[in-house]
Amino acid sequence: MRTIRLLMVGLGNVGQGFLTILSEQKQSLETHYGLNISVVGVNDLRMGSLADSKGIPIQNLLAAAAKGDLSTLSAEQKGFTVEEMLDLVDYDGLVEASYTNLQTGEPATNYIRKALASGKHVVTTNKGPIALHYAELQALAKQNGVQIGFEGTVMSGTPTLFLGMNWLRAAEIQRIQGIFNGTTNFILTKMEEGKEYAEALAEAQRLGYAEADPTGDVEGYDAAGKVVILANVLMGKSIAMSDVDRQGITHLTSTDIQNAQREGKRWKLIGTIEMVEGTIKASVKPLMLPLSNPLAQVMGATNAVTYTTRYLGEVTLVGAGAGRLETGYALLADLLSIYRKN
Ligand code: HSE
Repeated sequence: MRTIRLLMVGLGNVGQGFLTILSEQKQSLETHYGLNISVVGVNDLRMGSLADSKGIPIQNLLAAAAKGDLSTLSAEQKGFTVEEMLDLVDYDGLVEASYTNLQTGEPATNYIRKALASGKHVVTTNKGPIALHYAELQALAKQNGVQIGFEGTVMSGTPTLFLGMNWLRAAEIQRIQGIFNGTTNFILTKMEEGKEYAEALAEAQRLGYAEADPTGDVEGYDAAGKVVILANVLMGKSIAMSDVDRQGITHLTSTDIQNAQREGKRWKLIGTIEMVEGTIKASVKPLMLPLSNPLAQVMGATNAVTYTTRYLGEVTLVGAGAGRLETGYALLADLLSIYRKN
């Protein structure tokens, strides 16, 4: 049995989702992978920090996180910053699930840099560091003989990047098009059912799909972050957030939605990355798609991606794009692909 000692930064929905799956799959991870995954340190901006070389019992962590306070748990060390934790604690891998900042990528990028530079594997669901600093972080990982897993940054645990980076790698991806934001797809679905925009957005917030500040969702920034990641990881290009021709859904009215319906079409917020005369073009904008397009059939908070390839034509993957367990699963799957190889 191999013990993997993890540090976690961020114990919000995604971090707790990851821990839930870890506790449910404990036996299976031991039996099928020969892995005992232990959490030796946690740091959450709101809940506090603790570390214990013997491992912190997952159930205790989950119970404390549900109350939003880690201070009641006993541990060898408490009350340190993330930087101090990364220096002081002996660990094998970092699970980074702190909040996303698509403007600077901080503070998560610095945590990731620090872990990679000291030869530790990193798994993250944080879009900021990958959208803004992918090439640098990947180079740093390589230099230090470690890996960075980031599947959960696009379409949560639905294996979008995995499919593109592995099976489709040699199929020559020519175009990527998809629904990369659950909140906006949910709003458009509800508007088609007759709800008003504000009412639909409030419901998306209640259901936990929307970001803390939903501007990032409805103005297309969240989808643009994912488009940048897909372009940089799968198309071999280096584009920035400002290269994405971005428009949100806030100007769409119920009349627009009904007019599309009458024409046998549907509005979707679509992210597109394609090569046009040797130049990469990236956009996020509402498009009126014919119902024959598989993306037009994707309703509610579900996401989807269509890869147009040279050898397979179009390959469409439909699945979850957000959610506690759905995104937490990406962290576990990334860890398993790292530790199965090493
Ligand atoms: N707010 C995002 C969405 C979460 O609605 O898809 C996943 O990035």
